[in-house]
Amino acid sequence: MERLIWLTGASSGIGEAFARVAAQEGYSLALTARNAESLHRLVEACQGEGRVVASFPGDVTDRGEMARVAEAIRSQLGEISLLVANAGTHIPTDVRRFDVMQYETLMRVNYFGVLNCIEAVLPRMLEQNRGHLVAVSSVAGYRGLPRAAAYGASKAALTHFMESLRLDLDRTGIVVTVVSPGFVRTPLTDKNDFTMPFLMEADDAARAMLQGIAQKQMEVHFPKRFTYLLKLLRVLPYPLYHRLIASKVSPS
Ligand SMILES: NC(=O)c1ccc[n+]([C@@H]2O[C@H](COP(=O)([O-])OP(=O)(O)OC[C@H]3O[C@@H](n4cnc5c(N)ncnc54)[C@H](OP(=O)(O)O)[C@@H]3O)[C@@H](O)[C@H]2O)c1
Repeated sequence: MERLIWLTGASSGIGEAFARVAAQEGYSLALTARNAESLHRLVEACQGEGRVVASFPGDVTDRGEMARVAEAIRSQLGEISLLVANAGTHIPTDVRRFDVMQYETLMRVNYFGVLNCIEAVLPRMLEQNRGHLVAVSSVAGYRGLPRAAAYGASKAALTHFMESLRLDLDRTGIVVTVVSPGFVRTPLTDKNDFTMPFLMEADDAARAMLQGIAQKQMEVHFPKRFTYLLKLLRVLPYPLYHRLIASKVSPS
């Protein structure tokens, strides 16, 4: 694994924990999110001997801004060897108040937000024939889940995209990794009004991520007891899958 990481979604949750863990391991970091104040505090906490940590605030849905951020990182810190496109959000959906804007918003952040960052780094990585592209997706993209149509669709698209990208970059020196977390305790999941099975702490998630990325795994997924169960559900035929999930979730 290389030494300069461009991390998006660094201002809270999994991204913030990942920044701290990566800094402890000696990586240099360029941190992006919209909240410049939170990034500034994190930079101060992560700086240390032998590594550079700096903030580059921005909105991942703004394609031009991500191109400018990547350019600023390169001119101030050097080549980006590893992109960790982690910025994302969730809006629970209510089919009785169907609103296409919710779906568009989540596609813009969770899917196009990642693509905007990849576009900003891929040409240089191709020129150099090296680099590592990481996108944080979700197990919610494995199959349709109740009240998660917008989120799940955006993550399914992202996982699908990363799978294709890995094949397209197969004969290059560029590595592609998708991260599929189960439930992790963050400000995002603090809003959930249901019991989250196998809930993980953000620090543990960040450590699992860094380890899997360092091993250049195609998919990093955790916690394993939960993700293997969901992988098993993925191969069930539709009627069986439907009955099983419907029986676990009471109608809202
Ligand atoms: N927590 C879980 O259980 C879980 C499970 C599966 C997957 N994930 C995925 O893990 C990633 C991190 O989630 P989290 O739980 O750590 O959530 P979080 O605490 O809400 O953090 C989300 C991060 O994304 C940033 N962000 C959101 N919209 C952005 C935008 N338009 N431009 C730039 N940055 C933006 C936020 O920063 P600003 O608001 O400052 O911009 C924040 O730093 C997400 O992709 C999420 O889908 C989480």
